[in-house]
Amino acid sequence: MNNDLANQIRSKVDIVDIIGERIPLVARGKNLFGVCPFHDDSNPSMCVSREKQIYTCFSCHATGNVFTFLMNYEHIDFKTALKELGDKVGINTSGIQIAKKTTKYDKLYEAYNIAVKYFQNNLSSNVGKQAKEYLKNRSIDEKVIKEFEIGLALESRDDLTTILKNKNYDLVTLNKIGLSSDDHDIYIDRIMFPLYDVSGQVVGFSGRIYKDIDLNKYLNTKETEIFKKGEMLYHYHIAKEECRVKKSVIVMEGFMDVIRASTIGIRNTVALMGTALTKEQIALLKRLSPNIILCLDGDDPGVHATLSIGEELLEQGIEPKVISLPNPEDPDSYILKNGEDKFKALIENSLHFSDYKIAKLKEKVNFKSDEETAEYINSVLKETSKITDQIRIEVILKRLAKEFDIGYNTLEMRLKDLSQAKKIQQTPNIIIPHKIRSKDKYIKAMEQVIYFMFYNDFVITQAEREHLVFATEEMRILCSEIIYYYNKYGKVNIADFYTYIQDKESILKLFNEIIAGEYLEKTTKEDLLLYFKVIREYGKNQEIKRLTNLMKKEINPLEQAKIVEKIRKLRIGE
Ligand code: CTP
Ligand code: MN
Repeated sequence: MNNDLANQIRSKVDIVDIIGERIPLVARGKNLFGVCPFHDDSNPSMCVSREKQIYTCFSCHATGNVFTFLMNYEHIDFKTALKELGDKVGINTSGIQIAKKTTKYDKLYEAYNIAVKYFQNNLSSNVGKQAKEYLKNRSIDEKVIKEFEIGLALESRDDLTTILKNKNYDLVTLNKIGLSSDDHDIYIDRIMFPLYDVSGQVVGFSGRIYKDIDLNKYLNTKETEIFKKGEMLYHYHIAKEECRVKKSVIVMEGFMDVIRASTIGIRNTVALMGTALTKEQIALLKRLSPNIILCLDGDDPGVHATLSIGEELLEQGIEPKVISLPNPEDPDSYILKNGEDKFKALIENSLHFSDYKIAKLKEKVNFKSDEETAEYINSVLKETSKITDQIRIEVILKRLAKEFDIGYNTLEMRLKDLSQAKKIQQTPNIIIPHKIRSKDKYIKAMEQVIYFMFYNDFVITQAEREHLVFATEEMRILCSEIIYYYNKYGKVNIADFYTYIQDKESILKLFNEIIAGEYLEKTTKEDLLLYFKVIREYGKNQEIKRLTNLMKKEINPLEQAKIVEKIRKLRIGE
C-alpha cells in the first residue's frame, strides 16, 4: 500500500484549503462549514475540522479525510487523488501506477469502445464522404471530429452487431446495452456522437441524421444499466477541470452547442441534452461550480426552461446567472453568426436570474393599465424578496421608485412584509446532529473507547492488554486494525487511519458512525477503567448467557451442576 506516502502527502495539505477551493466555507468556532456536495442540500451541514483534518456532514453523514473527499467529489480513485495532491505539494508520486479499476461493466464499456472506433473509422473512410461534407458545412473540422470522437453509422443494417458478435458478445447483451435490436444495428446512417459518463467513459450515443430524410433528428441510446440520461451531463468529465479554473459552469441544451463553444476555447460547459434538469443533474452541477450560468436556446422553449430551471436552483439556494440569446439562436448558431468576441461579451454581461426574470415579466405588461402595473410592481417585489444581497435589493427598489414614481419607503415596507411572510412560511431548517440510535450503555462504552484510541495511545495499549470483548464483529475488527496500525506506524490519527481503512468496507461504516457521533476525546486513567469495567461486564453477561443455554441443553446432571457453579462464580465476580 501507499500508506507512508499517503500520510506524508496528507500532512502537507490542509483539508480546509482543498475543500475550500471547491465549496465556499464559513468559519464558525474552530471549525468551518459549507453546503455538503454529497447530498441534495442548501444548508451548511458539512463541518470541516482543521484540527482533525476530516469533514463530517450532519445531514447525510458523509465523512472522511482529504483523500476520500476528493475521491467522492471528483469521482476518482484513491491513487488518482494521491497523485493530484502529491503534484500539488511537490511530492514525487511517479511510483504510483494507476491500474484501471475493473468493474462489472467493463465488458459493456469495451463494447462501446469498439463501437466508437468502428464509427470513427467509417467517417474517415470513403463511405463517410457525405457525412464529412455535412460536418464541414456545419464548420466541424477534423480537429473537432477527433476531439469529440465523432463517427458514422452506415446504411448497412448489421455491421456493428456482426463485429461485436465476432468478439464474443451475445445478442442478449447487445440488445440490453442498446447497440443492437434483435440481430441488427440500432443506428442506421447517422452521424454518431459518443455520450460520456462523469468519468469520461462512453456509455451511449446520440445519432444525428445528415441527409434530407423525415426521421427524428437525434436518436439516443435507450436507458441502460450504464446509460442514465437524467444522471449525466454531456461534457462533465472535461468541464470538471475547466470549471475550477474559470470558476463557473455554463449550462447549454445541446451537445452541438458545447462542441461549438469548445472551438472558441470555452470548455467550462455542459449540455442537458434537452431542457429538463433532474435532481441528480443539479447535484452534478453544484459539484462543478457554485456559479451556474444558464445559456439555453433563445426560442420559447429555451426561455421557458431558463425560467423553470432558474427557479428550481433558486429554491436550492443558488441564484444562477443567465445568458439570453436572441430568438431563435442557440449557442452554436450564435457563435457561428457573431463570432467569439460577441459570445464572450454575452458571458461577461450575463444577468442575475432575478433580474432576468424581472425583465421577462416586464415584456408582458400593459403599462397603460394601472392594475397590470401594480401587479407587475408586486411581482418584482416578490422576486426581490428572494435576493439576499442588500445592495442589489436597494438598486432594484431605487429603480422601481424612479420608474413608477412611488415612494422608496412604500416599496421597502412592502418588501419587508413579503420577506416576513416568506420566513413564516418556511419550515425552519434545523440541523440535527448525528443522533446515535438509542444504543445501550455497553455499545456506547465500546464506541467511546474506540474513539479514545485516536487521541490517547495508552487506550490502545490498555485495550490490547485487557483483551476486551467487543459486541460485534465490526468492532472487533476495527479495534484490531487500530492496534495493528498503531504497532506499525507508532501513532494513529483519524485522518491517516481513513486512508488505511478506505477499502475495508465492513468496518468503514462503523468507523464513520463513530467519528460522526458525539464522543469525548480526552479521558483519564480512572475514567478509562470505568469504561473498561462496563465492557467487561458485557463480556461477563454474554458468557453467562452462553453457559445458561449450555446448561439447559445438558442432560447429565453432574455436568449441569458444574455449569451452574461456573455461572455462580461469574455472577459473584470470581
Ligand atoms: N435532442 C434529442 N432528440 C431530439 C432533439 C433533441 O435527444 N429529437 C436532444 C439532443 O441531445 C440535443 C438537445 O436535445 O443535443 C438539444 O436539442 P436541439 O436544440 O434541437 O439540438 P441542437 O443542439 O440545436 O442540434 P442541431 O444544431 O444539430 O440541430
Ligand atoms: Mn442547433
